[in-house]
Amino acid sequence: MPYNNILSESQNGLTTITINRPSKLNALNSATIKELHQAFKDADEDKNTKVIIITGSGKKAFVAGADISEFADYSVAEGEKLASDGQALLFDFVANLSTPVIAAINGFALGGGLELAMAAHFRVASDNAKMGLPEVSLGVIPGYGGTQRLPQLIGKGRAMEMIMTAGMIDAQKALDCGLVNHITTSEELIGLAEKIASKIMRNSSVAIAAAITAINSGYEDGENGYDTEVSQFGNCFGTADFKEGTTAFLEKRRAAFPGE
Ligand code: COA
Repeated sequence: MPYNNILSESQNGLTTITINRPSKLNALNSATIKELHQAFKDADEDKNTKVIIITGSGKKAFVAGADISEFADYSVAEGEKLASDGQALLFDFVANLSTPVIAAINGFALGGGLELAMAAHFRVASDNAKMGLPEVSLGVIPGYGGTQRLPQLIGKGRAMEMIMTAGMIDAQKALDCGLVNHITTSEELIGLAEKIASKIMRNSSVAIAAAITAINSGYEDGENGYDTEVSQFGNCFGTADFKEGTTAFLEKRRAAFPGE
């Protein structure tokens, strides 16, 4: 599918999706959200893609938020639909993908931008990155999962303060509070994400998918993460990857996982 707002490139087991509206600081309009949904879906269904990196084009921004010009005159019902459609198409969709998603935050990650980065399985950031959920400064609240994922990642008190003040934190503070896992220079950011991706790719993609399901389950209403872990753990014993992984260990060689 040809894209107008994003770029998607796959090689050596890695798909890199780049939001490409630099003149609008990569703000997420509805067309971009639909394209992102399609690109993530295609990458997840592609057996050759083992890891997905999501980043923004240009030096200034990962994503500066949902596109304010698009929703400024929405009604209550339209506002609710904006949030629920966005969560279903992109934010929950990404969080629950079987393929690991790394957000490479290369500048501003604000509002929906930080929410997209938080929907990814983990984050790395450039040292010039600035992160925040400024929605209350616009008279609205985060609607793409930010009120849930920020407290999960950095704790309730810190999330309350960030959301109430509409303030931004820098990369070092984000690292200190666990919002991002690593920081590096802008120039080295994608290289760092790729290095981590290559470590992930050595392992069983089937087991990684099971781990994502088990980890996410603990954050789902009405689910017991420990029970999910037990069933996912059990399922692994029926996979070709498990056979290969254990056999390779016993034969003192590196596993060549079939991904099944
Ligand atoms: N939605 C729509 N357009 C946006 C946008 C957003 N969230 N964020 C930036 N843009 C646009 C600007 O309107 C501007 O477009 P223009 O050149 O056609 O006027 C362009 O991107 C560049 O942004 P600008 O504000 O000129 O850059 P800056 O360096 O002065 O400021 C920010 C950068 C990130 C501080 C500022 O753009 C900003 O506050 N953006 C909104 C952040 C926000 O509230 N996000 C949450 C939305 S729910």
